Amino acid sequence: MALSIYVLNGPNLNLLGLREPEIYGRQTLDDVCGLCEEGGSELGLNIVFRQSNAEHDLIDWVHEARETAAGIVINPAAYSHTSVALLDALNAFDGPVIEVHISNIHKRENFRHHSYVSARADGVIAGCGVEGYLLALRRLASLCGSP
Ligand code: DQA
Repeated sequence: MALSIYVLNGPNLNLLGLREPEIYGRQTLDDVCGLCEEGGSELGLNIVFRQSNAEHDLIDWVHEARETAAGIVINPAAYSHTSVALLDALNAFDGPVIEVHISNIHKRENFRHHSYVSARADGVIAGCGVEGYLLALRRLASLCGSP
């Protein structure tokens, strides 16, 4: 049976493709969902893809993932830089976690250089555009031993 992987997206990523395209590109969140589903099926992974602008939704989904998912890919967006609560939720998840940022947060404003989530993440991918999600799935497949 395919391993279940949660791909969680934080605030404002619903505007992907429209919002600051010079930074985040022109692909929409639906495009990213399609990429993840396609890449996931090649890797033998079942993708559960979600986005919310609310911190508590992301936390609740991480709790849900404790029961149902082998690993998590998360783009926490601005909550990366602010949310100890999301870090605590991820610390209560036993499987591998890969953090993704579409842009290279280290090349941008100072306040983006620190991510609370990175203290938990098994890997961090930044600045690879939406392709970063596929790289993260590939890494999770190998960490979870998916054939
Ligand atoms: C982001 C980078 C964050 O700093 C920002 O708040 C986002 C998106 C990225 O994917 O590059 O909303 O996580």
